[in-house]
Amino acid sequence: MGNRTKQEMSELRMHHPSPIAHHDHLVRLQKAIADSGLASRRKAEMLIAEGRVTVNGRVVREQGLKINVEKDHVKVDGRHLKPAPPQVFIMLNKPKGYVSSLSDPEGRPTITDLLGGVSVRVFPVGRLDYDSEGLMLLTNQGALAQTLLHPRYHVPKTYLIKVKGVLDEKQIADLERGVELEDGLTKPAVVKKIRKAEENSWLEVTIHEGRNHQVKRMLDYVRHPVIKLTRVRFGPLSLGSLSSGQFRYLTDREANALRSVVTDRITDVAAGAEPGSTAAKTRRRRAGAQGWAKAKKGRKA
Ligand code: URA
Repeated sequence: MGNRTKQEMSELRMHHPSPIAHHDHLVRLQKAIADSGLASRRKAEMLIAEGRVTVNGRVVREQGLKINVEKDHVKVDGRHLKPAPPQVFIMLNKPKGYVSSLSDPEGRPTITDLLGGVSVRVFPVGRLDYDSEGLMLLTNQGALAQTLLHPRYHVPKTYLIKVKGVLDEKQIADLERGVELEDGLTKPAVVKKIRKAEENSWLEVTIHEGRNHQVKRMLDYVRHPVIKLTRVRFGPLSLGSLSSGQFRYLTDREANALRSVVTDRITDVAAGAEPGSTAAKTRRRRAGAQGWAKAKKGRKA
């Protein structure tokens, strides 16, 4: 904790509002106030200490009182607390021939055309080319989306691609090490051979950045242009059997996995470790075990 910046601490807090499905759970009063967006958790504690908060009509000065955000009536300075807006996460399987943004000045079909019935305003987390397919994540959680996309946090994206011809071992090693594109050296990628077709072949490529047309440019570099590109994984999410053109809401488990990735990446960077690396994971596990032991000792005392 010691070496986290203020910005990182506030990002961590932003990623931990109560998820929709958990609205019925008990949460601490100061967290409920912070989740509503009214004040930071610290400010909420001050509001409580100053006697400006009531729960079901009674002034509460006690910190840490657990309330049910669905049922308890919380007022701050006499005004009802609005519950935090629900967090929405959607997975879409974008077909080719659709723009991956919500609107298109050229009037081409966009992913908005595929999101019928979604009433919450959600935004795509990253892009896929017009002729690319596959997993797109959409959410109303701006800060979380930014962290998932930021190259500093190295969140992996995996693409199943069909390329012209067959790569040799040296070309695969080049891609894995990093190749020099016009916007700089690419970070190491993971390249897996999947199968060979008659003239062409299929590969799975995992990258940890999101530059424009990156996979296509990497494969152009080794002179095996991409014929077809499908994003099959994004961080902890897998496209699975979702049909082309269809969308679904993430399960609680998937949404939590996404939040954990973000929290872990921020923790790793704050600790000066390579985000998502084995060393960082070990460090996190050790820190977690120490925290747990400390908490256990505290309970015994
Ligand atoms: N890389 C590309 O070249 N295109 C995409 O759509 C996604 C990654």
